[in-house]
Amino acid sequence: MVEPYFKAPDFYLYHGDALQLLDQIKPESVTTIFADPPYNLSNGGISCKAGKMVSVNKADWDKSKGFSEDFKFTLAWIRKCKKVLKPNGTIWISGTPHNIYQVGFALQGAGFKILNEIIWYKPNAPPNLSCRYFAHAHETILWARKDPKAKHIFNYDIMKEYDDKFTPSGKQMRSLWHIPITPQTEKTHGKHPTQKPLELLRRIILASSNEEDIILDPFNGSGTTGVAAKMLGRKYVGIDQEKNYLEITKKRFKSQLLV
Ligand SMILES: C[S@@+](CC[C@H](N)C(=O)[O-])C[C@H]1O[C@@H](n2cnc3c(N)ncnc32)[C@H](O)[C@@H]1O
Repeated sequence: MVEPYFKAPDFYLYHGDALQLLDQIKPESVTTIFADPPYNLSNGGISCKAGKMVSVNKADWDKSKGFSEDFKFTLAWIRKCKKVLKPNGTIWISGTPHNIYQVGFALQGAGFKILNEIIWYKPNAPPNLSCRYFAHAHETILWARKDPKAKHIFNYDIMKEYDDKFTPSGKQMRSLWHIPITPQTEKTHGKHPTQKPLELLRRIILASSNEEDIILDPFNGSGTTGVAAKMLGRKYVGIDQEKNYLEITKKRFKSQLLV
């Protein structure tokens, strides 16, 4: 097994290619995977950030390599995730139209059962500066189970108690989630171009795992999944190919220990 880049009790970060490192993880050991893969949307064009026109390009890892190569990669990492999941384990994968249809097709091809399609609605999404499209105000998150017949964890009562602008506490949680984009207060330890809000990961982990369970994120980024897992008493394994993102994760993890 490759040595972790960073190790703390119940918290492991690995540096390298997810396709190789997923093979090093014990088969059938993980309860929940959250994957926020490259969306392949950094191919030129404009976007809006803090009211200013900026390039849509996030990073080289987010460039499309063409439909076939992108799909090969998607199917490969989804299959490897399947191996490390427990039979009743589940995977959550986020995306936009750039990648999410490939992801859904790959999940079905790999034999997963799709459980829900969550719409993460962003009430404060930036406007569309080209004025030629509707403003993009949501991301899609597919939730799927490894074994079509196993009984997965769904903490129904906790989700029913949860308060969401679209689903007040006491009502069955719906598949439409109202969560603002990542606040600046969560970005004090360094910049990642696509950092997810902690609230999103908190909800995912609470819904689909219990304390002490292992949570895995093959595209760790700034470590949002790991920080949420730590806050909720879960074990965490994160993988990323960029050391500077793992450094942000370490800082976020350590600041959590001081709270
Ligand atoms: C969309 S970002 C994840 C952001 C993360 N959810 C967060 O909240 O910060 C995708 C991450 O995957 C990493 N990545 C891309 N391809 C990879 C690969 N083949 N193996 C490992 N990491 C990869 C990138 O470095 C990037 O940090």
